[in-house]
Amino acid sequence: MHLIETRDLTYSYRGDRNALDGINFIAPRNARIAVIGSNGAGKSTLFKQFNGIFRPTSGSVLVRGEPITKENLHEVRKFVGIVFQNPDDQIFAPTVELDVGFGPTNLGLDEETIHHRVHEALRIMGIEDLAHRVPHHLSGGEKKRVAIAGIIAMEPGVLVLDEPTAGLDPQGVHDLMGFINSLSKRFGMTVIFSTHDVSVVPEIADYVYVMHRGRFVLEGKVEEIFLEPDLLRSLRLDVPVLPKLIRSLQKNGIPVPMAYTYEDAERALIQAYKGKQ
Ligand SMILES: Nc1ncnc2c1ncn2[C@@H]1O[C@H](COP(=O)(O)OP(=O)(O)O)[C@@H](O)[C@H]1O
Ligand SMILES: [Mg+2]
Repeated sequence: MHLIETRDLTYSYRGDRNALDGINFIAPRNARIAVIGSNGAGKSTLFKQFNGIFRPTSGSVLVRGEPITKENLHEVRKFVGIVFQNPDDQIFAPTVELDVGFGPTNLGLDEETIHHRVHEALRIMGIEDLAHRVPHHLSGGEKKRVAIAGIIAMEPGVLVLDEPTAGLDPQGVHDLMGFINSLSKRFGMTVIFSTHDVSVVPEIADYVYVMHRGRFVLEGKVEEIFLEPDLLRSLRLDVPVLPKLIRSLQKNGIPVPMAYTYEDAERALIQAYKGKQ
């Protein structure tokens, strides 16, 4: 049974062109999934289907094998935690600690458990020192970490991040990739994120859906997606710099095996160089 699955999912805002058009999406257990696409592709609209904020116009959304209903909506929202693109939509308590504790409090947990979860979430996100700050006064990157901590504290089975790298500085992006990988590795959380910043995808995703005008036009493992540079470019997406560089070296007769992450590329280049000597 998949954690989230959509079947021929269609959604239309006002009866005009479908914002989602025949989407078949699967999130298995312990996966890291990227949904990439340029602005207006339909990424945010799709994510709002995952916890019942929007309902399908046709087709279905299954969470742990069950369609979302009024009766299970509360359970679904406990299980699928979504962090929206703009943290201001999600942060409203007078302190960071209270804000991160808002979700767990709503789950009806006892105070000790709430306290433990809040501090664990702050620790994971590296913002323990912000606990008593006013969220409103934080920087964009700090607010984003607070918003993510607020969702982690609810211990969802699936963490959905809409454009998590948007507006972050390079260190912020690097840190975020670390959180995503540790949540997936250490806690077995399934992570689904959207982005139009394709360069981060190989570092934090195993499987990729490429979205354009409400449809998936390509899907597959990272290696499969980045073998289609022309298609990606035609969708106004970039190809990560490492496979692009290695492909160019290969074309020039330098035998470097293909690599997608920094670590793999480094190893491949060192080996290729040493092999020549
Ligand atoms: N509230 C809305 N009302 C009407 N149309 C919308 C609304 N939100 C988004 N859309 C349209 O739906 C399509 C998909 O938008 P969205 O899901 O926000 O894309 P993305 O997140 O990939 O940038 C776009 O054509 C957009 O204009
Ligand atoms: Mg969006």
